[in-house]
Amino acid sequence: MNILVLSGDGIGPEVTAEAVRILKRVGTRHAIPFQFEEGVVGGKAIDRKGHPLPAPVLKKAMRADAILLGAVGGPKWDTLPHAMRPEQALLGLRSGLKLFANLRPARIFDPLVDASTLKREVVQGIDLLVVRELTGGIYFGKPRGIRGKGKVGVNTEIYTEEEITRIGRVAFEAARKRRRKVTSVDRANILESSILWRQTITAVAKEYPDVSLEHMYVDNCAMQLVRNPRPFDVIVTSNLFGDILSDEAAMLTGSIGMLPSASLGEGKNRLDLPRGMYEPVHGSAPDIAGKGLANPLATILSSALLLRYSLGLEEPTMAIEEAVNKVLEKGYRTADIGGEGTRRVTTQEMGEAVQGEL
Ligand code: IPM
Ligand code: MG
Repeated sequence: MNILVLSGDGIGPEVTAEAVRILKRVGTRHAIPFQFEEGVVGGKAIDRKGHPLPAPVLKKAMRADAILLGAVGGPKWDTLPHAMRPEQALLGLRSGLKLFANLRPARIFDPLVDASTLKREVVQGIDLLVVRELTGGIYFGKPRGIRGKGKVGVNTEIYTEEEITRIGRVAFEAARKRRRKVTSVDRANILESSILWRQTITAVAKEYPDVSLEHMYVDNCAMQLVRNPRPFDVIVTSNLFGDILSDEAAMLTGSIGMLPSASLGEGKNRLDLPRGMYEPVHGSAPDIAGKGLANPLATILSSALLLRYSLGLEEPTMAIEEAVNKVLEKGYRTADIGGEGTRRVTTQEMGEAVQGEL
């Protein structure tokens, strides 16, 4: 199994190093012949190769069985023109590999209930999954650009019925393995693209009579997520709404440093499973990079998702999730989730603690 590791910028290398150690351990235990390859993307690739996603790296990604990504970006590259920014590495990988479905599970680990900025009784027991469309919508829609000597900025929110149907199916399939409820989030009272979204998701729902569907406007969803998040099971939504709502969902669980993600699409690997890309929901956090302060758990949990979706291994996935819960129970905390009576550890110590539990 060929895993391409794209550690990226900022805290990316620190957190992916811990996740790779975990994968190696699981590989030894379960006799999985892992081969790790590395690639340079993001700001580092701009510095070294003059492009955020050098063509050879995209090629490697297309041949890999799965991709583990850290994070990209930093202040050094913030003033570059749009097409040359580090974020383009992510967008290029997503569209190049046709990773149209982004799964962002937000589940609260019991020992972290008090790390959330919301009240215990609101967040306890949260277990939801944001299914974000990842290769369409306003992120990629045309026309786009700044015109007329910088006087008009244009972007286009655009969805085809086909794009909505395929992401809808991902959401309903996921719901079948969970609590059988889908909340489709749109802005159908304002936007035509959302009217089509709502019609299409309603049609997809007919294929899944055993799953319940509700529709919600995005502003209301943003509110319900902080008011009463527990009833949410699967949220399916567009690229932009999913970007925003998944950050919000992440914070419910105590820290964005806890949230993993899986991006899946059409491509299959040698096991005929999705050639997925796995990354933490958080960014490159350049302010704390290299200080051992970063929380590696989101990336470690992303490597667990890699085992689940790209290798079809459920047992080690659950073992990693359980190990994370155990270290949190034992009081190990990185700076972002620290609290009274807990033990403050570095990035590497946290990774070692999880390995110990495994
Ligand atoms: C995310 C990030 C990216 C996005 C950026 C860095 C391009 O915020 O993965 O949520 O908006 O998709
Ligand atoms: Mg985001």
